[in-house]
Amino acid sequence: MSDSAASPALETRGLHKRYGAVHALRGIDLSVRRGEMFALLGPNGAGKTTLFSILATLLRPSEGEARVLGFDSARERVQVRQRIGIVFQEPALEGKLSVRDNLYLMGLFYGLSSRAARARAIELLRTLGLEEVAGREAQKLSGGQKRRVELARALVATPELLFLDEATLGLDVDARRQFWAEVRRYVGTGGTVFLTTHYMDEAEPADRIALIDHGRIIALGSPQELKARVGGGILLLATDDDAQAATWLREHGHHPEVSERGVLLVEPEPATVLPALLASLPVRTRRAEVHEPSLEDVFLKLTGRALEGSPAGPAPRAAGGRP
Ligand SMILES: Nc1ncnc2c1ncn2[C@@H]1O[C@H](COP(=O)(O)OP(=O)(O)OP(=O)(O)O)[C@@H](O)[C@H]1O
Ligand SMILES: [Mg+2]
Repeated sequence: MSDSAASPALETRGLHKRYGAVHALRGIDLSVRRGEMFALLGPNGAGKTTLFSILATLLRPSEGEARVLGFDSARERVQVRQRIGIVFQEPALEGKLSVRDNLYLMGLFYGLSSRAARARAIELLRTLGLEEVAGREAQKLSGGQKRRVELARALVATPELLFLDEATLGLDVDARRQFWAEVRRYVGTGGTVFLTTHYMDEAEPADRIALIDHGRIIALGSPQELKARVGGGILLLATDDDAQAATWLREHGHHPEVSERGVLLVEPEPATVLPALLASLPVRTRRAEVHEPSLEDVFLKLTGRALEGSPAGPAPRAAGGRP
């Protein structure tokens, strides 16, 4: 026990996963500290759920090792499962049961006495603001309420580590904000969070972020560290002909990326070069924007592709490709 208490919350070494011909994870080495909020950010099909499932003991790796709170996620599943809470990408509530009973049954499942399970359910209904809907069938809740009940369910056994896989998919802004406030409260009590998302704004509050693409971690660090890797500020130009603008910029010593948002340039002093560019570009600029790099820009810079919005596997739009 003392041994596992001193270990990182999560540690993987050389993790590979193959589904037949699909090589979903291609050598993942990660370490997540206790008390950390850690985000795995990547596009559809990147391997997030696969890595998540291995860490949460639901899937065996093809190669390599994953340790969770000091225990082997493949060989010591029981020890791991007793210590973690999981919110899945797919809904997992018992629709016909009341919210209260969903929580109560989960308590029993984790080995709480009937009395303790009931008390824990009541406590979670209160702290997560679910008292009003406690008696309602889970299937009759709104999307946001359902997700909060799923979070409550994951917290029933007071886990040391909380796994969240795309936990707020499909929720509106308010519901998402409320959900993350609860997660932050859990982190405030010393809990560790491992979350996956393909929304950069959901990864932003994390202590550290791993960017995953095609089964590989392509960058890892705090949000600030990742943004610093872009190497300057962002200049975004929406023109009448972005492809032509990009060609001209390349011929004039710049390194543009073309995305759905427009032509993107990384410049040490974007505001300083803007007037000269506007004056000499051979196409009309409809809109020009200067901003600090976002995680989206980091991903675009590293892969030449956009992170959000598009379904799996769009052809790279940026003519420049990989830097
Ligand atoms: N059971 C399976 N059998 C075969 N291939 C699979 C299976 N599960 C996932 N894959 C493939 O493995 C790759 C990674 O999938 P995974 O579900 O881990 O991605 P993800 O990052 O979670 O994507 P999303 O954002 O869409 O949830 C994809 O190419 C996917 O098609
Ligand atoms: Mg997934």
